[in-house]
Amino acid sequence: MKKLWGGRFEDKPSDITERISVSVHYDKRLYKQDIRGSKAHAEMLNKCGIISIEDFEQIKKGLSQIEDEIESGKFEFKRSLEDVHMNIESRLTELVGDAGKRLHTARSRNDQVATDTRLYIKDEIIEIKALLTDLISILVETAEKNTEVVMPGYTHLQVAQPVRFSHHMLAHAWALSRDLKRLLFALDIADSSPLGAGALAGVNYSTDRTITQKLLDFKSVNMNSMDCVADRDYMLDVLYFCSVCAMHLSRFSEEIILWSSSEFRFIRLSDKVTTGSSIMPQKKNPDLAELIRGKTGRVYGNMISLFTVLKGLPLAYNRDLQEDKESLFDSIDTIKLSIEAMIEMLKEMTVNKERMRQAVFSNYSTATDLADYLARKGLPFREAHEVSGSIVKFCETSGKDFFSLTLEEIKKFSDCFESDIVEILNPENSTERKLSLGSTSLSEVRKQIIELKNIIEKNR
Ligand code: ARG
Repeated sequence: MKKLWGGRFEDKPSDITERISVSVHYDKRLYKQDIRGSKAHAEMLNKCGIISIEDFEQIKKGLSQIEDEIESGKFEFKRSLEDVHMNIESRLTELVGDAGKRLHTARSRNDQVATDTRLYIKDEIIEIKALLTDLISILVETAEKNTEVVMPGYTHLQVAQPVRFSHHMLAHAWALSRDLKRLLFALDIADSSPLGAGALAGVNYSTDRTITQKLLDFKSVNMNSMDCVADRDYMLDVLYFCSVCAMHLSRFSEEIILWSSSEFRFIRLSDKVTTGSSIMPQKKNPDLAELIRGKTGRVYGNMISLFTVLKGLPLAYNRDLQEDKESLFDSIDTIKLSIEAMIEMLKEMTVNKERMRQAVFSNYSTATDLADYLARKGLPFREAHEVSGSIVKFCETSGKDFFSLTLEEIKKFSDCFESDIVEILNPENSTERKLSLGSTSLSEVRKQIIELKNIIEKNR
């Protein structure tokens, strides 16, 4: 097949030249954006008196037919035509003749591909935003349903202080709400039109780039034609968003894996979101969480991959840039899949209040409250800390927990202790003694729920 760029060539490309050049097997997913961009470009050409209304109508009709052909599976993408752009243009010319050949006036594939990928990102971000908002909303619902549940809060994965389970859920919701901000930042960056830049220098026609900008719903026009075709940082912003979000989901997954283990049993995942083992009949594995955690590596890799493609790349367009799309597509697909999996897991998760209660009761989780009690009675905090530590040590060596200590025993450590210490040692009261803003007390948790609901509302 004759190449669309074949005018100055005598020889056909070698087989390997075709094989290494081809991108249509993955960039064909941009067909919708490519057709939309081409229709807008043709309309602009007509409005600026560069092509006739008849040509514009023909082009529009032909492109709509191509879209139907692609969607009904009748379109044959040819590897010899390299990419999605040339496949569509070549079919257009088959369908409408010379009008099709006029479409590429005042345009290059360099501004075309940048336009397509920006449009694609804008479309995808709308979908990701809806998913992410759903996930935050499920977390808030789960928190709301379990405000009374108290669990151990950890540092170093050692029991630290009692926290509300809802507070822990909301900590993840806040992280994801920042991802939402990052996502919207990426949308803002992508929302600028490169169309009309031509190959790199602008075009020799009096076009109006603001026409295509408006037709394609871009917020602004990129003012430098070289930057239009050389820039890919709008993709990096998406890949960075995906990386941070995947990292958040991975950390949460790790907890889900840990909590559903037989040693923890803080939560239970239903049959719908677990898998069995082909050899060990008793197994019920949290594969979804493990896969989310595992996929994070690939998502990071995609970001580094594009950074590396861009490093040292001279202006303006270089063919290296064709290597941008697989990373972008893969990270977007992966993050959508991971968010969906997380939503399903949370829907299918049962909270084991009793186990969390046992864990928080049996691990000296109120040792800090004990020290604070003494500090309130006038002992300097450092000394109070020392006394509380000695009590833990005593309990450990005598095989006791805080609740089997008698008042007599505890009084031996300090005269300050009175009978109200029993209440202090109870982990369920501990969360309510937290007075600071953003703490794990019920009133602070409720405030968070209200704020997060506002964020959800704003992003729906
Ligand atoms: N498939 C190419 C890409 O993804 C389209 C632009 C090609 N431009 C060129 N001058 N060869 O970047």
